[in-house]
Amino acid sequence: MTSGAMIELKGVTVSYSADAPALKNADLCIERGEFVFIVGPTGAGKSTLLRLLYRGEKVTEGAISVAGYDLNTIANKDVPYFRRKIGIVFQDYGLLPNKTVWENIAFALRVTGAGRSETRRKVQDALEKVGMTHRPDALPGEISGGEQQRVAIARAIVNEPDLMLADEPTGNLDPDTSMGIVQLLKFINERGTTVLVATHDAPIVDSLQKRVVAIVDGSIVRDDERGLYRHQILAGKKGGAN
Ligand SMILES: Nc1ncnc2c1ncn2[C@@H]1O[C@H](COP(=O)(O)OP(=O)(O)OP(=O)(O)O)[C@@H](O)[C@H]1O
Ligand SMILES: [Mg+2]
Repeated sequence: MTSGAMIELKGVTVSYSADAPALKNADLCIERGEFVFIVGPTGAGKSTLLRLLYRGEKVTEGAISVAGYDLNTIANKDVPYFRRKIGIVFQDYGLLPNKTVWENIAFALRVTGAGRSETRRKVQDALEKVGMTHRPDALPGEISGGEQQRVAIARAIVNEPDLMLADEPTGNLDPDTSMGIVQLLKFINERGTTVLVATHDAPIVDSLQKRVVAIVDGSIVRDDERGLYRHQILAGKKGGAN
């Protein structure tokens, strides 16, 4: 199955073991250009869903297409090209500790065979977008958590991905810093990248009022177009409980 949507899941189940599946019969369609929060309690299946989307995990059952690739039939040789269409950000930043800010980002370009001047231009551009041009020679241990996450985002966008996946990107940050990171993800989305953010962070979800997909025990239980962290009917929006 391939689809014109950025992400399409039909009847997707992921079972790690004989226990209850981590994702159960999930149907989900995300169009190009959307910004979507994935919320739900711990163990609900948020990270499992995100891993499926970059083929860090395979479905046990069901159909999945991402960025025009059918992930059930994609050839192994095509997986690296597919992954280049995706930028990924995690809670713990995942920067290489012995490389500078600049080198961490340039490293992500290496696989693409970018030349020197192209690398210089693209790294600089990514640093400008995330507001981190002032410390290119710092090591990750010499900058704050919020700054490290900005660098991780710069690394994720340097290949100009179609899709950005962020798993708890603000999980280790204070509220103000978190808000800055989410504004940055919003800015990246406004420039055309589809963005998915898995989060427990109710204030940031509520501040953006974007699409919210809620997962509980592996099932998608809610999908609100302009949603809040907890289900509430927004002021001015007509009733109709679901
Ligand atoms: N690699 C794995 N092997 C076995 N079980 C796993 C694995 N990864 C996750 N699980 C289980 O699958 C379920 C969903 O986990 P997942 O990490 O997707 O949840 P989550 O919503 O991201 O939780 P959190 O908010 O704590 O990050 C949990 O029951 C978890 O224990
Ligand atoms: Mg998780």
